[in-house]
Amino acid sequence: MMDLATAAIRLLPPETAHRVTVEFAARVAPFLPGPAKDDQRLGVDVLGLRFPNPIGLAAGFDKNARAVRAMHKFGFGFVECGTVTPKPQPGNPSPRLFRLTEDGAVINRMGFDNHGMEVAANNLVRPRKGILGINIGANKASEDRIADYLSCFARLSPLADYVTVNVSSPNTPGLRNLQNRDALDRLLRALVAARGTRRVPLLLKIAPDLDEAGMDDIAEVALASGIEGIIVTNTTIQRPPWLASARAGEQGGLSGRPLFAASTQILREMRKRVGSKLVLIGVGGIASGEDAYAKIRAGASLVELYTALIYEGVGLVARIKRELLACLARDGFERLADAVGTLKN
Ligand SMILES: Cc1cc2nc3c(=O)[nH]c(=O)nc-3n(C[C@H](O)[C@H](O)[C@H](O)COP(=O)(O)O)c2cc1C
Repeated sequence: MMDLATAAIRLLPPETAHRVTVEFAARVAPFLPGPAKDDQRLGVDVLGLRFPNPIGLAAGFDKNARAVRAMHKFGFGFVECGTVTPKPQPGNPSPRLFRLTEDGAVINRMGFDNHGMEVAANNLVRPRKGILGINIGANKASEDRIADYLSCFARLSPLADYVTVNVSSPNTPGLRNLQNRDALDRLLRALVAARGTRRVPLLLKIAPDLDEAGMDDIAEVALASGIEGIIVTNTTIQRPPWLASARAGEQGGLSGRPLFAASTQILREMRKRVGSKLVLIGVGGIASGEDAYAKIRAGASLVELYTALIYEGVGLVARIKRELLACLARDGFERLADAVGTLKN
């Protein structure tokens, strides 16, 4: 039934398909049964939270926090909404979202289209069940980007279980310069100072397009700043030469299957640098339990996905959980948490 719906939706242009899906999810949410209880072995205790399972919805799907409840009910262990900016903004001109079907991938140059932090806050009605992350960013026209992150943080962090600082979108010119050592240090220290006594966990989301020195800098700054974790990774501006789809030359960030190896490599590298002092969330190209398991063994306590959902629909979440349990049983791990970072390299 869901597969049929997914197939039908994929006949629409990609952005229309996305809008229809989010709207549908938002409207049916109240009528959906609660999430099925997860197997205890999949539970993860990190960031002061109990995640019922490690599979999260990555940022970008639910930018305005419309469908959070529905996505929890579809079985996600947590949902990250955003990226939210202080003011509403339209994003880049369309077309700006392209399916690379043959490659199991997507290219997007959305550019933080979103309705702004007030709308997101109003959509996040309480009481809320399920773990919620809010991903924050800066407006394209902002003259003081750090001030934008601080505004979003002040408005939205009281509504979130964790906040993600997104400095890695390739679609806002100059944004990724915030990954540079001094700028990142200033940004993270300002946010850590702003959170006061309610220490809502702060995570930094990084790009996969980093060299050794870039990774060294980020690891050092993140460790020194007092944040709790790193999300590895956002989309890539690289284009593997073997991409088969006609749209492979579009500008923007590439996600999905072709991102898997590169993002997992960065995850391993970050694990080497931060050990278990920071929580790592692995994202990029996950489409199966084996994929999620590989990220977990490389050092991720939790994972997130987006692109595979476009191709497979929400049935994917239950399948990944089943396959993950099979991976654990095969390799003799009693609980998922025991497998984190067990791949030595
Ligand atoms: C259409 C689209 C929009 C996205 N928007 C955001 C965003 O607003 N903020 C963000 O941090 N990441 C965004 N991402 C990146 C995803 O959160 C994720 O890091 C990336 O797609 C890799 O995961 P995947 O291969 O499972 O899609 C977006 C991805 C896609 C495909």
